[in-house]
Amino acid sequence: MVKHYPVMLEEATDILVESGGEVYVDCTVGGGGHARRVLEKLPNAFVIGIDRDEEALKRAQENLEEFEGRYSLYRANFSHLDEVLSQEGLRSVDGFLFDLGVSMYQIKGDRGFSFLEDTSLDMRMDTSSSLRADKVVNEYPLERLVKIFKEYGEERFAGRIAKAIDRYRRKKRIESSRELAQVVWDAVPPKYRHGRIHPATRVFQAIRIEVNDELGSLQAALGKALSHLKVGGRLVVISFHSLEDRIVKRFMKENAHRLKVLTKKPLRPSEREVALNPPSRSAKLRAGERLP
Ligand SMILES: C[S@@+](CC[C@H](N)C(=O)[O-])C[C@H]1O[C@@H](n2cnc3c(N)ncnc32)[C@H](O)[C@@H]1O
Repeated sequence: MVKHYPVMLEEATDILVESGGEVYVDCTVGGGGHARRVLEKLPNAFVIGIDRDEEALKRAQENLEEFEGRYSLYRANFSHLDEVLSQEGLRSVDGFLFDLGVSMYQIKGDRGFSFLEDTSLDMRMDTSSSLRADKVVNEYPLERLVKIFKEYGEERFAGRIAKAIDRYRRKKRIESSRELAQVVWDAVPPKYRHGRIHPATRVFQAIRIEVNDELGSLQAALGKALSHLKVGGRLVVISFHSLEDRIVKRFMKENAHRLKVLTKKPLRPSEREVALNPPSRSAKLRAGERLP
């Protein structure tokens, strides 16, 4: 059975609720792991959970059922934070949590997030959005693929892999995650095929970031979150990608007059957590507190 372990659960929620507020927004509620701990820690708090993935919201609903009346869930991109808060009739809240990226349910599901599963190339977190991985892989110009693999995947063989995809798709459309993984495997030099990570890992990550406009959504959401944060309220972000972490770091620096940085260096998961849940290894947690 698939299980998602909420990453840096205690660290993130302890910082978020330290001053004991009333209303929190979990911008990436997923299976509700972090939201649940907030509700447990603060018996009088209310949590607004946002996720763009309908399946995730069903899971959150099941996980949080016993807290009926103390939470509400919204299917939305967190870049639309303003609309969610206005629907709730709220102008300001005590804390925002972002636990970025994808959940294990998404990775292990049938939407093509993983090269380990043989599924169609979808990769949309929000299945009502129009851009699918299939289009990126089969229709984006070669140069754009190179750029995406380089920037979002930090893939050293970006050019080589993109060219291999281009050659392949001229003969046949790439239809499945396995097929794409095989093209990437064949494209990299043999000695890179048996490294610590599968050679397709970075390419899949890059396509996922493109399909879901993950960096654009984050850029748009952070400023909105800060503008709705009460004085003394906390902003906590867990990121899994260096570009995401850079966006968060830069945002905190640029807003130093409004946000006190609580994490000079990002916090990292403990060795124990990484041993229990290896995907947590790349997590970086940054937090700030709203200044008067
Ligand atoms: C790592 S999981 C969160 C897990 C959650 N903290 C838990 O404890 O179960 C990330 C979730 O954020 C959602 N997500 C990612 N980007 C989003 C965005 N821009 N707007 C809304 N939800 C987003 C994904 O669909 C996914 O369910």
